[in-house]
Amino acid sequence: MQILKTIKDMQALSRTFIAGGKTIGFVPTMGALHEGHLSLVKRSKRENNATAVSIFVNPAQFGPKEDFRQYPRYIERDLVKLSLFGADAVFIPEADEMYPQGSSTIINVGNIGEKLCGASRPGHFNGVATVVSKLFNIVMPHKAYFGQKDFQQTVVIKKLARELNFDIEIMICPTIREADGLAMSSRNMYLNPAERKAAPVLYDALKRGKSFMDSGVKEVSFIIEALADLLNSEPLATIDYIELVEPEGLEKIEMVKLPTVLCLAVKIGATRLIDNMAFTP
Ligand code: PAF
Repeated sequence: MQILKTIKDMQALSRTFIAGGKTIGFVPTMGALHEGHLSLVKRSKRENNATAVSIFVNPAQFGPKEDFRQYPRYIERDLVKLSLFGADAVFIPEADEMYPQGSSTIINVGNIGEKLCGASRPGHFNGVATVVSKLFNIVMPHKAYFGQKDFQQTVVIKKLARELNFDIEIMICPTIREADGLAMSSRNMYLNPAERKAAPVLYDALKRGKSFMDSGVKEVSFIIEALADLLNSEPLATIDYIELVEPEGLEKIEMVKLPTVLCLAVKIGATRLIDNMAFTP
């Protein structure tokens, strides 16, 4: 496994892969790797000749009051995991390699970045789109792998790839869950034992949503109220949003019409968690 710290070295390695006729699968991450990330690496290995992973806690996607400083960083442990999973290359740039002094260009994803999580995280998706575009130009992958857990991110990145003509297939992979249903996330590390016990309430709410859908309930306001009651019954939970949206433009729907995605953001203690469930015809 090769570890690259500079853009020049990563690009040179990717060019070598491409010149050798290899397809490159790419898994962008912010590290603190869990089984969710590793499932993406596994899938990339299955579908490509070479797999590159990036580990970069991207300052541009954190708001001034968010957790950039405290975001978990476990680089040595991550490298061991990636080597065991057979990654071919790991790109670990410093912040000033990615954003040299004076950098000012950002990608503006528009209105799609202001919905759902964007409402409480202004600028977040512009920061994600900027770093992902840079990483695409650096790694030059054929396919890039993202988890369904960050549903809005997957929508933004598919749109970005389409509209900026990146010749890269965007692969969306299923959410990986703990045994009690909690979606895997690096931020789960912030939860204390009582909060960890409370956190599966997000999945409980999604499952309750599914039971309404399965029984043909059509009125979205009824579903959302019932899910709010369920989430509010957990004293450690504070709802940020519960929304049913159509999956392309993320517009809220009023009457259930498939396909749709049920999206949640809920704080458990001080930790903001997100989860979602998709419903198809
Ligand atoms: O999902 C993440 O970990 C990040 O948003 C990503 C895609 C690596 C960009 O920094």
